[in-house]
Amino acid sequence: MKKDYTILTGITPSGSGEVHIGNYLGTVVPFLDMAKKARQVYFFIADLHALSTVQNKEELQRNVENLVLSYLAFGIDTNKIIFYRQSDIPLHTELQNILNNVTPIGLIKRCHAYKDKLQKGFDPERVNMGLFSYPILMAADIVMYDPDYIPVGEDQKQHIEVTRDIAGYFNKTFGQTFKLPDIYNIKETARLIGTDGKRKMSKSLNNYISVFGDEMTIKKQIMACFTDPNRLHPTDPGQIKGNPIFIYHDLLNEDKKEVEGLKKRYQDGRVGDVEVKEKLFKVLLKKFTVERKRYQQLKKNPEKIRKILAEGAQQARKVAVKKMMLVRQEIGITNQYSFFKY
Ligand code: ADP
Ligand code: TRP
Repeated sequence: MKKDYTILTGITPSGSGEVHIGNYLGTVVPFLDMAKKARQVYFFIADLHALSTVQNKEELQRNVENLVLSYLAFGIDTNKIIFYRQSDIPLHTELQNILNNVTPIGLIKRCHAYKDKLQKGFDPERVNMGLFSYPILMAADIVMYDPDYIPVGEDQKQHIEVTRDIAGYFNKTFGQTFKLPDIYNIKETARLIGTDGKRKMSKSLNNYISVFGDEMTIKKQIMACFTDPNRLHPTDPGQIKGNPIFIYHDLLNEDKKEVEGLKKRYQDGRVGDVEVKEKLFKVLLKKFTVERKRYQQLKKNPEKIRKILAEGAQQARKVAVKKMMLVRQEIGITNQYSFFKY
């Protein structure tokens, strides 16, 4: 691991853009921690990538809003983190177009975003080109800024390898232009179990507990949480192990004494599910008080958000322009007749 490193990562506004406690523990916490230690951080909303699956205007707008507000509410330090929307820097798509020419079709055909679709029975003739060329846009997002590390989850690992391949082909063809990034090994935080007690917490499975939802919604989500299926009465001794409500308590409740007390009483059959759940509800509201308040304030202040995103885009653009001028030169587009400036 280098000492003075730059990291870059993106997040796609697909799904509903709503953040749940699984996302929080799995990505937000490790990202904020990593960002603190880095010299430079680029963090962007990959809204153009989302178009490969989200093809509804209102839905895309809502998802982007949710993500922007959530991450700002979590307190990302925009003095240090360059925070922007991919679509605000059209140079990414220009670079994608150039990288297309050094990318073998076979490389992309082996990517799982595409292969998954085929496995799900999609006709290969009908997979859209956005989805097919998704890894090339991702490569452009990355190599534009010469980052050292890309913190991504396991599912994105292959895309970083493809990025390295594409950057390597370009460098070999046109001369050293791009740095080859490494994957930042995020310690795979155990996938947080969902409120159904069976599968990982996920928006699409509707087994999640929201961070920024309204109180009633969060309460409902917690009250519907699966616990010990063999425990019919509060006086029956209950199981703690694998019980999602206690997994959440363990991870989020800072009052360890309270957690131990609840566990003991649960095992002895001296506390009902409702009390354990109500305590968790209070813990969540308390834990995210500042973030939830900030979310609502930011939501009322679009002008401020616009300013943050404009500043982020301006900073990123400066770096991107420099890189694209070099790329134009390396590939031979710049010549004695060139006047072009970004
Ligand atoms: P969802 O499955 O809810 O749609 P995403 O696929 O949008 O979530 O995930 C966004 C990020 O949050 C991913 O990088 C993933 O690593 C992390 N994440 C999602 N679900 C969980 C979970 N249950 N536990 C830990 N991390 C998670
Ligand atoms: N494809 C990534 C995801 O779905 C998001 C993304 C787009 C990204 N461009 C990137 C991540 C560049 C890291 C670097 O999670």
